[in-house]
Amino acid sequence: MAVNNVVHVNECGLPLNAIAWLVKHHQSKIHERTQMIRDLQLEKGSFVIDAGCGPGLWTPLLAEVIGARGKILGIDISTEALVTAQRRSHHTWYRQQVQYKRATLEQLPVEPGTADVIFSANVSQYLPDPVATFAAMGPYLKQNGRIVIKDIDFGTMKFHSIDPFLQQRVFQARQLWESERVDHGYAYEDSWVGSKLAQYLEAAGYKDVQESAYRIVRQHVLPTNFRFYLQGIAEWFVCEGAPYLSPDDVTDWLQCFTDDECNVLDQPEFASEETEYVVAGRWDGVVSRFYADMHIDIAHREPLLIIND
Ligand SMILES: C[S@@+](CC[C@H](N)C(=O)[O-])C[C@H]1O[C@@H](n2cnc3c(N)ncnc32)[C@H](O)[C@@H]1O
Repeated sequence: MAVNNVVHVNECGLPLNAIAWLVKHHQSKIHERTQMIRDLQLEKGSFVIDAGCGPGLWTPLLAEVIGARGKILGIDISTEALVTAQRRSHHTWYRQQVQYKRATLEQLPVEPGTADVIFSANVSQYLPDPVATFAAMGPYLKQNGRIVIKDIDFGTMKFHSIDPFLQQRVFQARQLWESERVDHGYAYEDSWVGSKLAQYLEAAGYKDVQESAYRIVRQHVLPTNFRFYLQGIAEWFVCEGAPYLSPDDVTDWLQCFTDDECNVLDQPEFASEETEYVVAGRWDGVVSRFYADMHIDIAHREPLLIIND
């Protein structure tokens, strides 16, 4: 086990972003994620940009609701993720409706005013200035188009049958470390972002902002993919040297999740819960004065790479 190293890292240096990790994480929450997309009630035939699409795991869910006349453009900074996404869409009924391109959230490779929906899942946690990024994305939407941001919030995470004081120390130590790890050469991360998204979208100029909270609860006996997810999360909490946690706490914590004999994941009373947030806002087409210049600059740049059939 890679204790104290960055765990499940992708080629962009983001922890918990390796493709195998993303795939298992997605499978472990597929029921809730399917419901999240259905609840959006996207119109048939919509043009949806999946911003930070990773290996394209949300594509089938989006395709199902927008139907055969819809279009999906997945963008990401990770070439490896895009190549995987492209491969996954081969031989699907929706393959002609999907494109993947390398781009950043701030410089989407489409004309302004063309997207019905911008959807972005599990990406906002990596944005150093989420309000500026969300504001830069708005002008790519049609007037009254929707942005939908989905993300985690580890402030909502609880593991029943683990000492609550140990949990508290582990969570506080990671939160403190996240506030300063950029200064030590790591990529930016805010794993407590979910409950802040509504205020970020409002600050970025979106109207009618609505938050939906999805509580994800799993109990003994855990499905294999959820067990893998929890073990990865447990390891991630104490990776990178866990500078604000004592070595004894690191050992005790990891023992809870990995021990052969007294692993909490095998105990009948075990349960885990966390809440994920889906926050949507409407773009009324008005670019605030502050962000207008930034958009004119970014809208004229070329996409970095195009991966098409
Ligand atoms: C945790 S993964 C989520 C992938 C996918 N949305 C999902 O939920 O399975 C985060 C993805 O965001 C991408 N990413 C991070 N920052 C980005 C940015 N500024 N612009 C575009 N993609 C970004 C990463 O490369 C990675 O593929």
